[in-house]
Amino acid sequence: MYLTKYPHPANFSFAEGYDEASGVLHAGNRTFAATIQGYEGDIYHVRVSNPDTWPGGNKCLCPLDLPPQSQRHRLKADGRFEISLLGKEGQAILQSYPGAGFGVSGEAWLFQFAVGEDARFYGMGEKFFGQIELSGYRTKFWNTDVWADFPMAQWKDHPVDPPYFTTPYLAIKAGTEWVGILLHNPYPTFMQTPGLDDSRVFVEWQRTSKNVIVGSEGGQPDLYVIYGTSLPELTRKLQKLVGAAPLPPIWSLGYQQSRWGYAGHDDLVRVDAEFAKHEIPCDGLWMDLEHMRGFRIFNTSADAFPDGAQKTIEALQPNDRKIVPILDPGVKFEPGYDVYDDGHEKGIFCKNAEGKEFVGMVWPGETVFPDLTTEEGREWWAGYAQKWFEEGFSATWVDMNDPSTGPVDPQGMLFANGKEPHAAYHNQYALGMQMATFEGFQRAKPHERPFMLSRSGFIGSSRYAAIWTGDNVSNYFHLRSSVPTAIGMSLSGIPFHGADIGGFGGDCSEELMVDWMKASFLFPFCRNHSVKDSRPQEPYAYPSGTMQLLRRFIRLRYKMLPYLYNLFIRHEAEGDPILRPLIYDFHDTTIERTWDQFMIGPFVMQAPFL
Ligand code: GLC
Repeated sequence: MYLTKYPHPANFSFAEGYDEASGVLHAGNRTFAATIQGYEGDIYHVRVSNPDTWPGGNKCLCPLDLPPQSQRHRLKADGRFEISLLGKEGQAILQSYPGAGFGVSGEAWLFQFAVGEDARFYGMGEKFFGQIELSGYRTKFWNTDVWADFPMAQWKDHPVDPPYFTTPYLAIKAGTEWVGILLHNPYPTFMQTPGLDDSRVFVEWQRTSKNVIVGSEGGQPDLYVIYGTSLPELTRKLQKLVGAAPLPPIWSLGYQQSRWGYAGHDDLVRVDAEFAKHEIPCDGLWMDLEHMRGFRIFNTSADAFPDGAQKTIEALQPNDRKIVPILDPGVKFEPGYDVYDDGHEKGIFCKNAEGKEFVGMVWPGETVFPDLTTEEGREWWAGYAQKWFEEGFSATWVDMNDPSTGPVDPQGMLFANGKEPHAAYHNQYALGMQMATFEGFQRAKPHERPFMLSRSGFIGSSRYAAIWTGDNVSNYFHLRSSVPTAIGMSLSGIPFHGADIGGFGGDCSEELMVDWMKASFLFPFCRNHSVKDSRPQEPYAYPSGTMQLLRRFIRLRYKMLPYLYNLFIRHEAEGDPILRPLIYDFHDTTIERTWDQFMIGPFVMQAPFL
């Protein structure tokens, strides 16, 4: 599959006839069933089905939370299945492109919409475009392990696309009204917005289409159209549909310190003591791969914890700090290793085309992958996660769930005992992992609020996990792009997010560390993380003047914790994001592209030096 090429409408057959009463739609030489269902709050579901083309229908693991049905319709489809959404004055604010509104090409399909010249575009979930207004983009949605799948020369200081997390959602500003388009489809989806990005055009036909194009390379079309009189109204409706983030434990909103390289008990106790000595508040110490016995998941290393993990957990209790260990989905392909043997015996691992266990190359070397898209797979995983949480860990971060298969082509990984193609579940692998890990946590600690951080995800992940934006680099390009990426996620139903503060790859200078901390000390999630062997990145590792500045901003976060916590309470009730663009709270066309300034809730504006 190509990450950066998109289907062209000329290869599609467009709907020629549609009978609303019977729902019969003709396109090319095929017949489809098409329905439009309205829900309260001006939410519409456009579904096209055909059991031969898309057998089994929608393959999404996490259903949307739909409000009650409604008969009052703002969305209409005519005899050619051309759709129009009417605005306040009865004018069409979104309209199918005449003669080519809905098209099919084999299993692929697309919708084309004509929009006004003044239309503006936002959302698209996690994107690294460096902009919040997204006119003139072509993009695909396919969870990608960025460092493994793009060359370093690119990700070091240029945008890459697609990144880790998939949310095929587009918010369109049409005059003073808003329309949201959500593709509830886990296959590789794509979107194109009209615009003139001259930096990327060297022949005329490379310009993006003048229409909005949204579609998918496979899977049943399930398109949701949401109408809003304002951006907050639209965003709240979307958030309720995909699921709000449940109130997290308050410690997860405090400052978090991570590093790939903390080797275990001695390091954690030392880091804990340094934070105490320098009077820097910190709620979580995060452990990377080193907590495992040779990259074997659910196996604690005796080198890391000579007296057992519980001893270290207790040692950190006086300062009320939690240990958050990493959890990868890949299981070392090694007969004799209990987790592998058990999964093998129960047939839990994904298969390849030969009916054998699919093998990728991740940290443990040859690695197999539990099929977390099936109920049995998730049940199996939840059992291990439960035991693991019972050992005393307060939370986890689930990583490499794109799924990362290293240099091995993931398309060979099949699901449902080899019956389902990779593309049907790729974008949902992380979601399955989140669901099962969440379940394990709840079983182990029924009286605690779960907290989990995840790298990849899909529509519905907001119900289970906070998201960090993956492997960034210690430079100003990555600091700058962290703000528009955060805004895009907030507007796309992913409220709990943050970037690795200071940058993951490379050495973070004093100056950059201070600027990064100032820019993101109020991000919904606040964690400093760095790659193995880089310059130590803890606040106290910098000279005293710098340390004091970093400490000042971390303490300021703690002063504002009641405010942040209340924003999360409000988010769960109403659906408003924590971090938002200026246009969320202010109405002024001069700020519709402002990406380097943002709001934390309705009362705090930040204009950081980026
Ligand atoms: C991935 C993660 C990173 C982690 C590393 C080692 O690159 O994104 O955060 O430190 O794996 O586990």
